[in-house]
Amino acid sequence: MKALILAGGMGTRLRPLTFSTPKPLLPLLDRPMVMHIIDSLPEEVDTVVLAVSYMKDQLESFFRQHDCGRRIVLVNEEEPLGTGGAIRNVRQHLDDTFFCFNGDIISSLDLRDLLAFHRRHGGIGTLSLWQVPDPSAFGVVGMDGERIIDFQEKPAPGTAISDLINAGVYVFQPELLDHIPSGVVSLERKVFPSILDRGLHGYRFQGYWVDCGTPESYLRAQSELLEHGRSMDRARKREAKVIGLNYLDRTDLNGCVIGPHVCALPGSSISEGSTVERSVLMEGAKVGRGCRVKDCLLGPGAQVADGEAVQGRVLAFLQP
Ligand code: GDD
Ligand code: MG
Repeated sequence: MKALILAGGMGTRLRPLTFSTPKPLLPLLDRPMVMHIIDSLPEEVDTVVLAVSYMKDQLESFFRQHDCGRRIVLVNEEEPLGTGGAIRNVRQHLDDTFFCFNGDIISSLDLRDLLAFHRRHGGIGTLSLWQVPDPSAFGVVGMDGERIIDFQEKPAPGTAISDLINAGVYVFQPELLDHIPSGVVSLERKVFPSILDRGLHGYRFQGYWVDCGTPESYLRAQSELLEHGRSMDRARKREAKVIGLNYLDRTDLNGCVIGPHVCALPGSSISEGSTVERSVLMEGAKVGRGCRVKDCLLGPGAQVADGEAVQGRVLAFLQP
C-alpha cells in the first residue's frame, strides 16, 4: 500500500525558520515533523510518496541520508500545484487505495482504524475529523450520519456549519484522480465539494490532534508529545533546575531554570540566571545570562542576548 504526504507548502506562518528549513523537516522533539507521520504508518504501507516543491533539495538530501525502512519517492512540482494538483501530479504512483496526509499534522489517530472504517463504508474517500471550538481556520464538514454532505474551507468566523474539521489525514480510492482537473487545484476548495455524491465519509477520533503550521500550534504539538510519553533528559547540568516534562538532548544548562515543555537539542545552551519555559532550542541555539524565554521557537544557532526577555517569538540565526 502507498501513502502520499503533501509536503510542498512554503510554511509561511513559520518564517523565518522556514527560510532555511522546509516545514516537514523542522524538528519536533527527536525527529522531523514528517518522520512522525512516516513512523506511524501501518506495516502494509511499503511506499511513501512525497509531493514536494518548496526546498525540495533539502528533503531529497534528508531522505538520501536516512533509511526510513520504506521506499521513498519524491515527486517535484516546478510550481506549487495546490493540494489537489499535487495529488494529480503523482497519479502514476497511485493505483490502489492510498493514505494521504497533510505534512504538518501530529495526532493520535489510529491509521489502521481509519483504513478499516474506509473499507467498511466504501465510497471514494474517508476524511479523518476532529472537533474544535473555533473551526474558522480549517476545513469544516457538514455530516449526515457518517457521510459528508457539505464542505467549507476556512469559513468566515460565525458562518461554519459545524465544529467538526478536516484533520488532514485521508484514505482515497484512485478514482479521486478522475475528479482533479489539471493545473493549480485546491483539494479542499475545488475537489471535495465536487465529490460529495461519490461517497465521502468522515471518521471521528479522540486523543490529540495538532496542525503544526503556526508557532503557537507547533508548541502545542510539542506539549502533546511530551504529555504522551516522549520526554527525555540527557542534559549536561550545573546547578540547573528542571521543571516538569521536557526533551533535553545534550544541551548545556548552567545555573538556570528550565521547563515545563521545553525541547533543547544538541549543542544548545542556557546560561546563569535564565528561565526558559515552553520553548524549542534547536541545534546550537543559545540563551544568554539573565534571560526570560517563554513560548519561543529558537532556530538552529539562534541567540537570545544577555538580559533579554522574549515571549511568543520565532528567532533564527542572524548572520553577524
Ligand atoms: N506538494 C504540495 N503542493 N503540497 C502543498 C501545496 C502545494 O502546492 N500547498 C500546500 N501543501 C501541503 C502543505 O505543505 C501541508 O503539508 C498541506 O499541504 C496542507 O497545507 P497547509 O498550508 O498546512 O493548509 P492548512 O493548514 O491551511 O489547511 C489544511 O489543513 C487543515 C488541517 O490542518 C486544509 O486541508 C484544511 O481543510 C484542514 O482543516
Ligand atoms: Mg497546515
